[in-house]
Amino acid sequence: MPNPRRSQFPADFRWGLSTSAFQVEGAANVDGRAASIWDTFCAEPGRIRGGATATQACEHYDRSDEDLSLIKTIGANAYRFSVSWPRILPNGRGTVNVAGLDFYDRLIDGLIERGIDPWLTLYHWDLPQALQDKGGWPNRDTAFAFEEFADAVSRRVGDRVRNWITHNEPWCSTIKGYFEGEFAPGLKDLGAAIQSTHHVLLSHGLAIPVLRQNVPQALCGIALSLHPIFAASESEADHAAMVRHDGIRNRWFLDPLYGSGYPEDILAELGASAPTIQSGDIDIISTPTDFLGVNYYFREFVADDAKELPVRTRVTETAAADRTGFNWEVYPEGLTDLLQRLERDYRPGPIVVTENGATYPDELDPEGAIKDSDRVSFIRRHIDALHLAMKGGVDVKGYFVWSLLDNFEWAEGYSKRFGLVHVDFQTQKRTMKDSAKWYSEFLRN
Ligand code: FCB
Repeated sequence: MPNPRRSQFPADFRWGLSTSAFQVEGAANVDGRAASIWDTFCAEPGRIRGGATATQACEHYDRSDEDLSLIKTIGANAYRFSVSWPRILPNGRGTVNVAGLDFYDRLIDGLIERGIDPWLTLYHWDLPQALQDKGGWPNRDTAFAFEEFADAVSRRVGDRVRNWITHNEPWCSTIKGYFEGEFAPGLKDLGAAIQSTHHVLLSHGLAIPVLRQNVPQALCGIALSLHPIFAASESEADHAAMVRHDGIRNRWFLDPLYGSGYPEDILAELGASAPTIQSGDIDIISTPTDFLGVNYYFREFVADDAKELPVRTRVTETAAADRTGFNWEVYPEGLTDLLQRLERDYRPGPIVVTENGATYPDELDPEGAIKDSDRVSFIRRHIDALHLAMKGGVDVKGYFVWSLLDNFEWAEGYSKRFGLVHVDFQTQKRTMKDSAKWYSEFLRN
C-alpha cells in the first residue's frame, strides 16, 4: 500500500496530538488543586495495576515547555489537552482558583507562540471529589456545576482558544465509572450510570451557549468513543444483540445529540434503569454544535446473552491476529465505515477524529531508539482509512493521535504506552519513538 501523503488532505486540515490532564500533568497537590475522583480511586487498593497513581505522571505541569517544543518538533499544527476541573474549582463550584487557570493560560500562550492550535477538552473524567461527595454525575446538580466550570475556563482563555470539546467519551466516564466499576468512582449501579449519561449529555448542552457567549468565534463539539458493532454469528439472536449493543454503545449518545431523543428500543430494554428526564432536557442536549469528535480504537463483536446487563449482550473474542498491546483488534476499515455511517445516519457536519492510536510493549534498543513499527503501521493505515472516507464525501477536518506522550493509562497505570514520545517514568526523559519521526516526516512532506 502506498504511504498516505499530507498533500492529499485539505491545506487547513488539523493534524494533532492528544493528551488529558490527569494522565500527564502530575503536580497533584500544587497551586491549590484539590482531589478528583481519580485521585481517590488510585488510592484504593486493587483499583490500578501495580498500585500506580498519577501524582507525578509525566510531570507535564512542570515540563510543559519541553512538551510543547516536542509537538513543534514533530510538526503537528494542533494540540488537544484537557483542563483539570479540581485545579480550577477545587470545590467543584464556587470559588475559582486563579493559580489553576494561570497554568492553562501559560500553556495556551506557549502553543500559540509555536503556531500550534489549542483544542481544549473541558472534561476528561477528573470530576472534583467534592462533587462526587454530593452524588457525582447521578446528581443533576453536577450538570449545572459543569456549566459553571465551562464559564470559568472560557472567560479566562476564550480570547485565544477557538475549539472547545465539552466531554471526552461519556461512555467511559459513566458506564465504566458507575456501572462496570473499572473506572472512577468505581461503582456498580446501572441506574446511577444511566442517569449519569443523561446528566453528562445535559451538561454538554448547557455549556454550549455559555461557550458561545464567552468565545465569540467558538467552535464547539463533544468527543464520543464509537465502535462499529458486529454480530458474533449469523444467528438471528446475535443479530438482534448487535442492534441492541449498537444502541447502548453508539445510538444512546448520538440520537439525543442529533435531535431524535434516546432510542426507544434501548429505553424499553433498560426498563426501571431508564433515566429520569425533565421537560426541555432533550432540546438542551440537541443544541447545535460545530463538529463531532470521534475517538476510534476498535470494533466489537457481540453475542446474545440474557444474563448480561445493560442490554443482554456479551462482547466476544475473535480470532483476529492483528492486535495491539491492549488486545484490541487492529481494524482500520472500521474507521472508514464508522465515518460513513455517521454521515449517513446523523449528518453531524464536520467530523474531527479526536483520538486514534495504539499501545505496544515498546522497548528502548541498545542505541536508545524505539522501533515501534507496529504503531507506525497502525497510524498510517488509519490515516488511509480516514482519507478513504473523505473521498467518499465525509467532511473530516482533523486527526489527532492518542497520544503525544506515554502516560497514566487509567486502570492500567503505566503498563500501557500509547505515546509517540517515550517517557522514562523514573527520570522523566522524553525520547521520540520511530512513530514520532514517521508522523513528523508525513507532516513535512
Ligand atoms: C480513550 C481515552 C484516553 C486514553 C485512550 C487509550 O478511551 O479517552 O484517555 O486512555 O482511550
